[in-house]
Amino acid sequence: MTETPDRNLALELVRVTEVAAIAAARYQGRGDKEAVDQAAVDAMRQVLSTIDMDGIVVIGEGEKDEAPMLYNGEVVGNGNRPQVDVAVDPVDGTRLTARGMPGALAVIALAPRGTMYAPGSLVYMDKVAVGPAAAGMIDIEAPIAHNLAQVAKANAKPVSDVTAIILDRPRNEPFVQAVREAGARIALIGDGDISGSIATAKTDSGIDILFGVGGSPEAVTSACAMAALDGEIQCKLWPRDDSEKAYARNEGLDLDQVLTTRDLVNSDNTFFAATGVTHGELLDGVRFGSKHVYTHSLVLRSKTGTSRYMNAIHKVEQLRDLSAFEL
Ligand code: FBP
Repeated sequence: MTETPDRNLALELVRVTEVAAIAAARYQGRGDKEAVDQAAVDAMRQVLSTIDMDGIVVIGEGEKDEAPMLYNGEVVGNGNRPQVDVAVDPVDGTRLTARGMPGALAVIALAPRGTMYAPGSLVYMDKVAVGPAAAGMIDIEAPIAHNLAQVAKANAKPVSDVTAIILDRPRNEPFVQAVREAGARIALIGDGDISGSIATAKTDSGIDILFGVGGSPEAVTSACAMAALDGEIQCKLWPRDDSEKAYARNEGLDLDQVLTTRDLVNSDNTFFAATGVTHGELLDGVRFGSKHVYTHSLVLRSKTGTSRYMNAIHKVEQLRDLSAFEL
């Protein structure tokens, strides 16, 4: 880390997620995942270049989906200080947006240079995340029933009232079975485990714990948010096959290591901004009026622990003037 950013960069980053969400939301329900991604990336790039920072994208997500992402190693910002690591997920929930389903977010996170964990080509991690009440009480290596009991204890309620959020994938079926056997409740989501992790840290969300294998980029990005929300995320790299195991060995990535929030982002000064693309439990989606576009965002900074919800009303004409992308 070369310098501590002392301004709240997240307040500037929210402009990035707002434009990404607006651009992506125009493609809601059109069935074209690539167009959703491309629109968000183009919009993000344009506003990112105006922000006073010397950023390097450490977490993009092009590798898994071959998406037109802001790629790892890409330099972003206008080159002025501070030097930062950047994690981007122009749309967490591209499929959701393309299909017109709830829960998609435009997301960016930032931390001082050199502090974000780089998972290389290992695109999946096993994850468990909880809010502040149960932080410090969970263990990804313990049985699911143990973690559910810990969360129940932390929240002074029976296990039967605990709700686990799980990404709906065949690989996560063992988690679903184990939660059922323990007698807890389940909320299955089709996509979007950044919003799933954050939900565990929001007292009114009704979600207590996240389990399951999801994207590695999303794990690091979620850690930036969880650091600000006093929650906890623990992960382990999840290689899909022998070639990924060999890759990990060659790259010195320890498959047995429990990656704590701190391992995922080693800083007390993380920044996070997200804007709803489609309507969701965490944030409302983009709404288009005749003259205005409405966005809803969450802005977090771990140094101060401040969470801000920001509703913005954008003038369509103004956006057209300011941007090359079609609005
Ligand atoms: P994108 O929309 O950015 O592709 O991610 C959606 C998502 O559901 C993430 O939230 C999650 O971590 C990841 O995909 C899981 O990967 P996969 O869809 O390959 O199972």
